[in-house]
Amino acid sequence: MDPLQMPVPGERTSETIRRFRDESGPVVPIELPGKVNAWLVTSYETVNEVLTNDGTLYSKNPLNFPALHDGTIPPDWPIRQVIQGDHLLTKDGADHRRLRGLINRAFTPARVAAMAPRIQEITDELLDRLADEGDVVDLVRHFSEPLPIAVICELFGVPEDERYRIREWTNVLLSNVSTPEEAATAAGELLGYLGGFIGRRRAEPGDDLTTGLIRAQEDDGDRLSDEEMLWILWLVLIAGHETTVHLIANTVVALCADPAQLAVAQKENAWDQVVEEALRSRNSVVGVLFRYPIEDVRVAGTTIQAGEPIMVGLSGAGTDPARFGGDAERFDISREPDGHLGFGRGPHFCLGAPLARLEMRIALSSLFGRFPGLRLALTEGQVPYTSSFITEGPTELPVVLRS
Ligand code: HEM
Repeated sequence: MDPLQMPVPGERTSETIRRFRDESGPVVPIELPGKVNAWLVTSYETVNEVLTNDGTLYSKNPLNFPALHDGTIPPDWPIRQVIQGDHLLTKDGADHRRLRGLINRAFTPARVAAMAPRIQEITDELLDRLADEGDVVDLVRHFSEPLPIAVICELFGVPEDERYRIREWTNVLLSNVSTPEEAATAAGELLGYLGGFIGRRRAEPGDDLTTGLIRAQEDDGDRLSDEEMLWILWLVLIAGHETTVHLIANTVVALCADPAQLAVAQKENAWDQVVEEALRSRNSVVGVLFRYPIEDVRVAGTTIQAGEPIMVGLSGAGTDPARFGGDAERFDISREPDGHLGFGRGPHFCLGAPLARLEMRIALSSLFGRFPGLRLALTEGQVPYTSSFITEGPTELPVVLRS
């Protein structure tokens, strides 16, 4: 089969992955911008198979992607900026376990649970301001975006007036239409900013996780290097807001499109089911980059050679009729919770899942609690979406707050 071009103009990445799954099968060759060849796994079975063999058959370390280093792929290929950092998502085995263990020590379930009152407070403040905005407001700008940014930045001590820059750099880095220059500038500025930020936190400690990491480093000098600290912040600040920003808005779109589901969620306080169903069928993480086979592998009958990059199509897995039935596309909170892969699987399973679930539940229950008649101010088909291989959500979402 000839490689299929990605992205497809005018089509969201989630739609492309689903279409490729249905038309071309569970493992398809793709061509990414810059004429870079890769593979895409599109079904629940193949996504699950690849993730389950992370660290054994597959590596996350870009050193195992020869085309990146042998001159095949140009040095300014924009995707390099997200796959070549030195963080959890580019490590395997013992290296990965060591770093994850260090972060987990700071990011304990107790610390996350203790965030609940503060997340509620930030949510309520945003909703108060939303109510003053008028009857039609852009929910992305005024709610789904500022909430996760405030939560993760507050947790790590990023000052309020600096937070929006992180959002802007993230937008450029995750977009699949950024030019090489834009991607390189955003990457350089973000790393420069984080270096300066850590320096300031060192000089002026606070009650935040960055200070916690600095203390851990000082107490036990050889364990966490300066470079590792920088990349921890890079990953956590990006992954910790981008995903949740889009999942809140995707879920609002789904609920507004089906008022009967919304009514059940409100009446039965079924927000946990809403969140799980959104992670399955409307996930903000549509594809994850990359896995590199460390030997030739057979996936659903297709041979993929060692070192050929595989993109993991989470949105294809979540809506796969072979796994979730003929109505897999339908957002239905009455489904039995049944092993979605929305937070990934295996060693790289989302480190922020408890925080994301907590934020999602508070955001949605509070939003619809305050504005029970909230509806979209445009049709579902008119909602504009981000262009990215990794994450997807509305760029703006005008809503009518009160019917
Ligand atoms: C709805 C929100 C979220 C979704 C859908 C999501 C999804 C994911 C997925 C699918 C992965 C696995 C990536 C892979 O296997 O390549 C992942 C990893 C990760 N996520 Fe999340 N995430 C969310 C929120 C968060 C938050 C709030 C944080 C904050 C700390 C976070 C931090 C991370 C980190 C650090 C990793 C890398 C873990 C590792 O490699 O060991 N995520 N996330």
